[in-house]
Amino acid sequence: TNALKIGVAGLGTVGSGVVQVLAANGDAIAERCGLPIHLSAVSARDRGKDRGIDVSGARWFDDAVAMAADPEVDLVVELIGGAEGVARSVVETALSRGASVVTANKALVAHHGTALARRAEAEGAALAYEAAVAGGIPVIKVLREGLSANRIERVHGILNGTCNYILSTMRESGREFGDVLAEAQELGYAEADPAFDIDGVDAAHKLAILTALAFGCEVDFEALHVEGIRGISALDMEYAEELGYRIKLLGIAERRDSGVVQRVHPCMIETTTPLAQVDGVFNAVATVGDFVDRIVAEGRGAGAGPTASSVVADIMDLARGARLPVFGVPAERLKRLPTLPMTAH
Ligand code: NDP
Ligand code: HSE
Repeated sequence: TNALKIGVAGLGTVGSGVVQVLAANGDAIAERCGLPIHLSAVSARDRGKDRGIDVSGARWFDDAVAMAADPEVDLVVELIGGAEGVARSVVETALSRGASVVTANKALVAHHGTALARRAEAEGAALAYEAAVAGGIPVIKVLREGLSANRIERVHGILNGTCNYILSTMRESGREFGDVLAEAQELGYAEADPAFDIDGVDAAHKLAILTALAFGCEVDFEALHVEGIRGISALDMEYAEELGYRIKLLGIAERRDSGVVQRVHPCMIETTTPLAQVDGVFNAVATVGDFVDRIVAEGRGAGAGPTASSVVADIMDLARGARLPVFGVPAERLKRLPTLPMTAH
C-alpha cells in the first residue's frame, strides 16, 4: 500500500511518545492524511532497553546517520537532541538527499536554522520543528500560518516548562530548588543537561526561533541576552508576592526601527495578569500583530504526550504535501537584522 515510511532517530521521552501516538491514533491519522504513517525504521543507543513501546515492526539501526541516509526512509524524525554531533549529521544527511525532516531539536534550529532552511529549500525538502518551541502549543503554525497576514510587533511568553514548574512549585509548596528540579527531570521535562533549562539557554533557543519567524530574519541565537533562574530564592518569591507580583522566566522579542530586541530573563509580573496565572509545566506565548491585535496560546510546554502531539502533527502536514518556507519567507530572503544591546531596550 501507499504509506509514508518514517524513520525515528531517538526513542527517549519524545521518541517513545511519538511511537505511542502513532500506535493509539494511527487509524484516525491515516484517514486525515489520506495515507498511513508507517514506522519503518528506528535508531537509539541501547537496543536492549525496555522502553514500554513496540518497535518490532521497524528496522533497527545502531547508526542513526545510516538510517537518515537509507533511501527506504521517506521522512526522518530527529529526536536525539543537541546542536552538533549525531543529531546535526542526521538532519543534514536527510536534507542533502532531499528527504524531509521533522525535529523537536531547538538547540539545532537555534544554532543552524538559517543554513538548514537554505539547504532544505534548495533540495525541495521540508524542515518542520513545531515541537521545538513550547511543546504541545502549535505556536510555529500560529506565527507562520495563522498570523501570516500581519506585521508582527512583539512575541513574548513563558518558554521553558522546567523553569516554570520549578518556580511555581517552589512558590506553592516552599520546596527546595534542587528537589523540584529532580522531579522535573523524572517527569521528562528537563533537557539532557538541565543547566540548559535553568540558565535560560533553552528558552533562548526557542526565542531565537520565534524571532526569526516573527520578523522574517536570520536566526541569531548568539546575539541574545540570556539570564536564568539560578539566583532566585524562595524569599525573592515571597517578597514579590507581597508586592503583588510573580516571578516568571520570560522570553521577549520586539521589532524596533533599528533592529530587534530579543532577551530571556526572570521578570516580576503583576499577579493579576494572565501570564502570572500560567503554572507548572505550562507555557504561554503572547503575540501582537498589526491587524489581529493580541493573541495568547497556552498549553503544556514539555513532556512526552504534548511534545509528541506536535511532532506527529508535523509528520501529518508533510504527509499531506505541505512545503512551506521553513521560517515563513524563502530562506534566501531572510533579513539580517541587528539585535539591539540591552542598554537600548
Ligand atoms: P531523551 O534523552 O529522553 O532521548 C534521547 C534519545 O536519543 C534516546 O533514546 C537515546 O538513546 C537517543 N540517542 C542518543 N544518542 C544517540 C545516538 N548517537 N544515536 C542514536 N540515538 C541516540 O531526550 P528527549 O526525548 O527528552 O528529547 C529529544 C529532543 O526533543 C531534544 O532535542 C529535546 O530538546 C527535544 N524536546 C524535548 C522535550 C521534552 O519534554 N522532553 C520537549 C520538546 C523538545 P537511548 O534511549 O538508547 O539512550
Ligand atoms: N526542557 C524543555 C522545557 C523541554 O522544560 O521546556 C521542552 O522544550
